[in-house]
Amino acid sequence: MILVFGSLNIDLVAQVPVIPGPGRTVLAPSYQTHFGGKGANQAVAAARIAGPGRVRMAGRVGRDGFGDSAIKNLRANGVNTDLIVRADEPTGCAFITVDEAGENAITVASGANMTASAADVPAGLFGSDTVAVLQMEVPFAQAWEVARLTTSASGTVIWNLAPVPETMTAAMVTELLGVTDYLLLNEHEALDAAAAIGLASLDYEAAAADLARTGNLTCIVTAGAQGALALTAEGTRLHAPAPRITPVDTTGAGDTFVGAFAAMLSENVSLQIALEVSCEAAALKCLKPGAQAGMPIRGAIGSLA
Ligand code: RIB
Ligand code: NA
Repeated sequence: MILVFGSLNIDLVAQVPVIPGPGRTVLAPSYQTHFGGKGANQAVAAARIAGPGRVRMAGRVGRDGFGDSAIKNLRANGVNTDLIVRADEPTGCAFITVDEAGENAITVASGANMTASAADVPAGLFGSDTVAVLQMEVPFAQAWEVARLTTSASGTVIWNLAPVPETMTAAMVTELLGVTDYLLLNEHEALDAAAAIGLASLDYEAAAADLARTGNLTCIVTAGAQGALALTAEGTRLHAPAPRITPVDTTGAGDTFVGAFAAMLSENVSLQIALEVSCEAAALKCLKPGAQAGMPIRGAIGSLA
């Protein structure tokens, strides 16, 4: 079973000529509403690849219309939502501006996500076949507890260290490494994580190798057009190329990679195959707007190759 413990957001997206700086106002012609949140995105990506009934999501939404639709959307995608709790705070909302070059700026108003609790997951759910998927949009201590319970039950922990918190301490990174089997991040996050624990890694590949060795885990870095790199604790290096595409929207590409990777891991395929499928899933996602619309089902994998 794939267990995603994390955030659910509604994404409000405006196309702007320039992303406004402090004190500035820009006009956008309109805005789009999309389903988002790193947790929910990863749950949907995993369910599209693994099929219905294989993914459970735990997290919190508000007692508002956004909460209703976020839950409904997960169900429509074959994700079990029995563990999602309604909180008094509003459903998380991400305010996203995208400029003409496709660069974005995102403000996440966490709301109900900040009340997410490891206690929402019954102890009996953790087992050796549990693949837990975690990110950084719910309280760190709660995500860590879910990881610890998974590890204690001999399950597998995938931790996507995104977004990197403004106040990421060495202790936080060390605690995270201690309960993680697969650390997934992009090149910037890899360098930030390595720096936070005092590793003076020269580039993202060195950072991945250093994090893998230090945490005794496998570190996977997604590097956009450069594909994905995996470094094991023993120093084995694997690479999967990114299919060449013209992206329409890269929002959620990282989440698609993480969800697809969790799905492949739960099928016990080789790390190389897991990397290749996840890279292709992330590329396919970029062909449609919004975080989730372009996430492929299993049968669509191979179509870009
Ligand atoms: O990773 C993309 C996600 O980050 C968006 O869906 C938005 O909700 C933010 O949490
Ligand atoms: Na570890």
